[in-house]
Amino acid sequence: MSLDLTPRQIVAALDEFIVGQPDAKRAVAIAIRNRWRRKQLDPELREEVSPKNIILIGPTGVGKTEIARRLARLVRSPFVKVEASKFTEVGYVGRDVEAIVRDLAEAAVVMVKQEQREAAREVATAAAVERLLDLLLPAMEGEDSDAERRDRLRDRFREKLQAGELEEREVELTYESSASAPSVSLPGAGGGGGMGFDLQSLFERFGSKKKVTRTLSVSEAREILLGEEAEKQIDPDKAHAEAVARAEADGIVFLDEIDKIAVDGERGGAPDVSRQGVQRDLLPIVEGTTVQTRYGQVKTDHVLFIAAGAFHVAKPSDLIPELQGRFPIRVELDSLGEEEFRRILSEPKASLTRQYAALLAAEGWTLEWAPDGIAALAKLACQVNEGTTNIGARRLHTLLEKILEPELFEAGDGEGKTVTIDAAVVNERLGELAADEDLSRYIL
Ligand SMILES: Nc1ncnc2c1ncn2[C@@H]1O[C@H](COP(=O)(O)OP(=O)(O)OP(=O)(O)O)[C@@H](O)[C@H]1O
Ligand SMILES: [Mg+2]
Repeated sequence: MSLDLTPRQIVAALDEFIVGQPDAKRAVAIAIRNRWRRKQLDPELREEVSPKNIILIGPTGVGKTEIARRLARLVRSPFVKVEASKFTEVGYVGRDVEAIVRDLAEAAVVMVKQEQREAAREVATAAAVERLLDLLLPAMEGEDSDAERRDRLRDRFREKLQAGELEEREVELTYESSASAPSVSLPGAGGGGGMGFDLQSLFERFGSKKKVTRTLSVSEAREILLGEEAEKQIDPDKAHAEAVARAEADGIVFLDEIDKIAVDGERGGAPDVSRQGVQRDLLPIVEGTTVQTRYGQVKTDHVLFIAAGAFHVAKPSDLIPELQGRFPIRVELDSLGEEEFRRILSEPKASLTRQYAALLAAEGWTLEWAPDGIAALAKLACQVNEGTTNIGARRLHTLLEKILEPELFEAGDGEGKTVTIDAAVVNERLGELAADEDLSRYIL
């Protein structure tokens, strides 16, 4: 169900969240539109058109991951993010790159089921109401054979239910408790997770769901019944088939830290066998192969790969030639400066400044950002990035958390207050810290 957005529309939608980086936005927008274009072709030609994968090149914290994530959400594509460097780890080499595809299928199943649940909402709501009525008006057959009267009573209760008058009424409900499955943990497993197999799915498959009978309020029972009724509307086989198709045609794999598996040929010494090995392992998946998943075979021929890396040392040309050929589009992202930081703080719908204002509003506080305060923060962020390590826009997170620490601690006690963060406040609270390089290295 990818939406038919044109490249221009995709870029405009990304602009709402991400400041700057026009080249990267254009590249991903074209790649997405090309998928739509491909679907319009004759089947014969359609099979021939392979996706044009992208490498995003840029320093840390400039929006590489953010662009890919927002894009996937925007066009409702199944999405997974993996770190290429993870695959150098022992036990990850070889067969296990296929886990990328299995995860993609999993993401697609979650997405499709969620959509089907949404689509079934109306039917499920109506069915849930009828089942609530059954619980509220238990068997009155026999003694009251007057069907007409029974119907009238039911109608009256239905109205009351819909008017929300019975929410606190108690009913007894027998249902499948799925809550018992996820809490399973093996004694001695140390809580470290990382078990070699998927316990949860094992339990699902062998039906460990337990029936329980509880006395619940109508509003609690409705939630459970809604869930059950929505689930009834989903045909798992169909959902899985749809998910596989979706993963194949619309899936996006974000391959982070691709530069870490590139081998810099000029540095001399023995070529790094393991990194090249990882590249070779990845190649079939990127080129197109078939992977067996829980939901059936998934062909990767048309999955879109977006790779990203800083490429400080290695260059894209240090990747093995086959892989280079599979990533024909390279875009550089700009490093962010004062002006970009100012815009990142103020423009996006869910900008950090808005997030903190909303968090404090939950406590009854009013947080106002004076334009000169935002400008001062942007300047400081730049200064600290230059003085210590450039972590891009991530610097804004540390700065904001630090500057709002007094309010974040105090809110909740006593009356709400109104706070304005202007340049004076910023400099008073952070100026000294930022000026001291040693201090800011630790704190900001
Ligand atoms: N251009 C931008 N516009 C808005 N927010 C941004 C931008 N660049 C980065 N950010 C914010 O900074 C944070 C880090 O960005 P992101 O995860 O995209 O970095 P990255 O480029 O993937 O870095 P890395 O190479 O370290 O993975 C995110 O929370 C994101 O919201
Ligand atoms: Mg990233």
